[in-house]
Amino acid sequence: MSFDAATLVNAATGGLHAYDPGHDLPVLRQRFGAAIAELGSNENPLGPSPRALAAAQAALAEAHRYPDPRGEALKAALSRCLNVGRDRIALGNGSHELLMLLAQCFADAAHEVVCSQYGFAVFRLAAAASGARAVTVPALPVDHPTAPLGHDLDAIAAAAGNDTRLIYLANPNNPTGSWFDDAALAAFLDRVPSHVLVVVDEAYHEYTDAPGLGSALRFARQHPNLVVTRTFSKAYGLAGLRVGYAVAHPSVIAVLERLRESFNVNCVALAAATAALDDRGHLARVREFNRSERAWLAAELTCRGCRTLPSQANFLLLDLARDAAALERHLFERGVIVRPMGGYGLARALRISIGSRTENLRLLEALP
Ligand SMILES: Cc1ncc(COP(=O)(O)O)c(C=O)c1O
Repeated sequence: MSFDAATLVNAATGGLHAYDPGHDLPVLRQRFGAAIAELGSNENPLGPSPRALAAAQAALAEAHRYPDPRGEALKAALSRCLNVGRDRIALGNGSHELLMLLAQCFADAAHEVVCSQYGFAVFRLAAAASGARAVTVPALPVDHPTAPLGHDLDAIAAAAGNDTRLIYLANPNNPTGSWFDDAALAAFLDRVPSHVLVVVDEAYHEYTDAPGLGSALRFARQHPNLVVTRTFSKAYGLAGLRVGYAVAHPSVIAVLERLRESFNVNCVALAAATAALDDRGHLARVREFNRSERAWLAAELTCRGCRTLPSQANFLLLDLARDAAALERHLFERGVIVRPMGGYGLARALRISIGSRTENLRLLEALP
């Protein structure tokens, strides 16, 4: 008897595809050894704080125990750092998990989930997995003076109707690097009705320094329908340990807690993230390195005739004005791994993470 579980799958999962990592990195690391430049996943080339690594090492002694299911120590540290109550914080196995959980908890086939064209891909995945209809609002034009390919907040607010349950925004956005300032967000939040949860994904927040760009957190008290997600994967350099968090009204957090897997953040990750928050000096070095290296790399790429979009994150979007597949292949053959953007409908673009100076030089040297 032939058996194929794909015929049994539920409607929401039936429309999904397994994650495609693009390349087999373990194989590539073997192939290129130390000569590889991993510029495809927006990781932190400086790595985590030494204090986070020491805390992770120490936590391994407790590996035979289940982790604290409530993550109280990390929540207490976040609560102090962000000046919000612990009952406003949920922890996730990366912020990806929380983005998915939000749609799972709050949307279903009767609802719409609104996001922007070129918005972070997980937003559409979360909508689809919940069975909701994803509404994609066209992005701002590529020649927009401040946010090329960025979120069109006016059009997004206008798209929120009676059936809309969630809006996902990323600030700054991946893969465009674009951002919107606090004034634009304030006006947007005033327009969105309170039956719509506005999720502002601030995965790259720690890298930002543009005038007028703060955090959506300052609007949390005024707008109980606002959810802010952040991660330890980027500026804190802990992508491999998988820790993220959401800050929201206590009633939103209480709903997420119903479905959150009890031990979703492991003990090593909890300890490392708690210690990482305490090392402000390391975070400042990471920010400064990213700021200066991003400016330097953008200038070097421009000199070589490659246009980059303005970015407040730890990556640059290269706009090649021609199909990017050949360049991506050319770089790949030389051990320089960057991210093709065809999946986003940006076949003429490549996303390049800000690596170490050695990696960035390798990229420049490998350009044709
Ligand atoms: C905009 C954005 N949000 C969320 C994530 C997910 O990060 P993590 O699950 O590692 O916290 C990423 C990862 O690249 C991202 O770019």
